[in-house]
Amino acid sequence: MDQIVSEMEFKRACVIGSPIAHSRSPLIHNYWLKHHGIAGTYDKIEVKPAELEAFFASLAERGLAGCNVTVPHKEEALRLAKHRTARADEFGAANTIWFENGELCADNTDSHGYEMSLDQDAPGWDNAERALVFGAGGASRAIIAALLRRGVEHVDLINRSVERAEELARLFGRRVSASGFDRAPLLMKDADLLVNTTALGMLGKEPLDVSLDTLKDSALVSDIVYVPLETGLIKQAKARGHRVAGGLGMLLHQAVPGFAAWFGTTPEVTPALRAIVEDDVRKAGG
Ligand code: ATR
Repeated sequence: MDQIVSEMEFKRACVIGSPIAHSRSPLIHNYWLKHHGIAGTYDKIEVKPAELEAFFASLAERGLAGCNVTVPHKEEALRLAKHRTARADEFGAANTIWFENGELCADNTDSHGYEMSLDQDAPGWDNAERALVFGAGGASRAIIAALLRRGVEHVDLINRSVERAEELARLFGRRVSASGFDRAPLLMKDADLLVNTTALGMLGKEPLDVSLDTLKDSALVSDIVYVPLETGLIKQAKARGHRVAGGLGMLLHQAVPGFAAWFGTTPEVTPALRAIVEDDVRKAGG
């Protein structure tokens, strides 16, 4: 009997993607499980695109309360879910899946995660009137939504492909305008907040080759890349005396709603959790 009860109380979740080996989500969720004394586990499972639908159909059978979804499944996961949060629909992508009354639900917590990370790491950031954002992919979309929601009046969006920046800017309306990197030195003069949403500067990728020489002295610099913990952009910003926020906060905070949905407790992003994940990033050469 005891065994039946404990088996029923044991909760499981996971992260799926392809590749998935380097995901730090298990480190985060298993820390919270232990910290809160919850009987459960969070694994990483390699799922190829052709296997996604069958994987979702097998969630209950696998005893999974839900999962995080990462590249390349974020768009397809949203399509396959029966219920979607407004923000997942807005971003056209899901990163968090769970069951409600036996039906698959999808959310996107990236935008929320970014907002919460700046609240924690750079309080007062939302006094910014003008932001300069590098990159026009999925991460950029979530971050621009957070900036506008929190009252940033105007976002200058810079992307290698100006066409892609224009496409994204159009989705947001007149508070977002698109440019190429050639306009960066000029736009930096008026920026209260500068955000890198590209993967440039990540370990193993090309560096983000921009000079901050013309950036407004009071500007906050934020980079969503967290391997290395201190990117070239963050180093340059620090050397110029800017307030900075690294990318680890977004990773940690985007995980909170999923944990709450699967395990029934809203966890906190504490210095202890941060130290564990930072240690892991450093071990990986970051
Ligand atoms: P994500 O969903 O993680 O944001 P993505 O949709 O692949 O990823 O977007 C990647 C972003 O990094 C894009 O803004 C991309 O610019 P392009 O739209 O011009 O491709 C940017 N990016 C990637 N490699 C780049 C490079 N070498 N130089 C400049 N920008 C780059």
